[in-house]
Amino acid sequence: MDAVTRGPGGRVQAFAPGKLILLGEHAVVYGHPAVAIAVDRGTTVELSPVDGPSRVLRADIPGAEGDPRLAAAVASQVPARGVGVTIRSTLPVGRGMGSSGALAVALVRAAAAWQGRQADLDECIQRGFQVERIFHGTPSGLDHSVSARGGALAYRRGPDGPVLSPLQVAALPLVVLDTGLAGDTATLVAAVRARRPAVDPALAAIGALVTALLPALATGDLPTLGRGFTENQRLLQAIGVSTPEIEALVAFALAQGAHGAKLAGAGGGGVVIALHPEPDALLRAARERGVPAFSVGVWPG
Ligand code: PMV
Repeated sequence: MDAVTRGPGGRVQAFAPGKLILLGEHAVVYGHPAVAIAVDRGTTVELSPVDGPSRVLRADIPGAEGDPRLAAAVASQVPARGVGVTIRSTLPVGRGMGSSGALAVALVRAAAAWQGRQADLDECIQRGFQVERIFHGTPSGLDHSVSARGGALAYRRGPDGPVLSPLQVAALPLVVLDTGLAGDTATLVAAVRARRPAVDPALAAIGALVTALLPALATGDLPTLGRGFTENQRLLQAIGVSTPEIEALVAFALAQGAHGAKLAGAGGGGVVIALHPEPDALLRAARERGVPAFSVGVWPG
């Protein structure tokens, strides 16, 4: 699918993907490397002509209708009059999958298309950050940057936000299992900080693991990568960001034959990602257990 399409009656539609952190969360806050991917799920913003003031016509995102931040985000990007905004998303909200970053980039792309032009990467990142700040105050800058670029990316923290470099990654049979709970990133990052220096060796071990796994990511060595996921999860548990719900889903995925599994994002809830030789088998088992689950691929950069 193209990021931007034009429809009848002056409509424009823009899509932007969500993201997952595959490896290295939390350690990345202290200068270690991490790996993120844009996923083939995301947010679509459609703009259509309306009479009168611009407004959100429909937002198919749980909890979004009536959220003043959504109205403020729209007002920051579209003209004050004449634009109706419809938003649809296939991302779970509040699970570390970058739903507001995807909304930000889709909105910037749609607003540019409304003016008859295409937003380039720089514009998506600059203006996307303005929108992200409306939702999150002081976002790390990762979500909307990954959304704007697409693909798989290695990243480190720089003084002005994440420093991203494209990464070659083989096709990965990834399944997302949702705990159904929202983890609060700021609280979890603060909790890890408060446990330093005791957790520093675990953070360094996560960093070393990420570097060691780059060749397996490139070649698609799933057994090695799976063991790495599970080891990363053990270290995340050691620094205190896992929960019984996350541990239960990791154990479930492994019992179902996953190569490995870990939380993805800040933890405290959110989603678990599993690498499974037969994703459909894991999806079926998850459905039987009543666990919301879906498979994801990389949205190309
Ligand atoms: O759950 P998310 O997508 O907000 O990811 C947080 C990732 C951390 O490493 C825990 C924090 C950060 O700023 O990198």
